[in-house]
Amino acid sequence: MTKYWISSETSIEIDSAEDNNVVHFSVDDKDVIVSNGQTIYEALQRQSGIGNIPALCYHPSVRPYGACRLCTVEVSEDGGKNFRFVASCLYPVKEGLVVKTNTERVRNLRKGIIELLLARCPNTKVLQELADEYGVEKPRFALGDHDCILCGLCVRACQEIIGKSAISLVNRGIYKEVAAPFYAYELGEECIGCGDCAFICPTGAIKMGENGKPELPRVKIPYAEIGAMASAAEG
Ligand code: SF4
Ligand code: FES
Repeated sequence: MTKYWISSETSIEIDSAEDNNVVHFSVDDKDVIVSNGQTIYEALQRQSGIGNIPALCYHPSVRPYGACRLCTVEVSEDGGKNFRFVASCLYPVKEGLVVKTNTERVRNLRKGIIELLLARCPNTKVLQELADEYGVEKPRFALGDHDCILCGLCVRACQEIIGKSAISLVNRGIYKEVAAPFYAYELGEECIGCGDCAFICPTGAIKMGENGKPELPRVKIPYAEIGAMASAAEG
């Protein structure tokens, strides 16, 4: 008989659990048994209270994207001898995997990510709460005034749930932002005004405007810089 945990407080004893459709692995020293074909994060979402994983760019309705890296955990595929970091929203569960969701190394890595995100979006409630939880007092970097963490959830929701592509992520690096086609901030006819993007946004960066269309967060690139970028691209 083997004891498997199905939540943080409940375990079941299973005599023989040979089945190609299930995977046995351990999470924070608890043996768990889950259906095959899911990611670590998805599997643990269904195991109440097991593991401690924050996730900002994950939503069960859209494909995982791996943007925020907050869901990073340590995994070992050799029975616990060697561990490495993986994004749990992308990494599939495997037989015999050893997963640690809240080690000091993991917490330090998440703390660094939270510090960067909080510096970009200092007034965002979800980041302030994570900063409290992970002991980030004040970012060491210059503070920005954004709300958008570029998780891409709004874009994926528009494409995958609604079947439109009224918004997308454009540009790279510090210029990356959410925009309508042809790099517009105002949404045109391609947007049906469903509000899915505003609903799914983890930071509240998208609000519905009075015209029934979402108002996108604006990075506000100076026009001089856009001109320079265009010339460089042409040139
Ligand atoms: S607007 Fe919201 S959902 Fe869209 S990328 Fe930014 S934070 Fe993510
Ligand atoms: S939730 Fe996994 S990378 Fe963001």
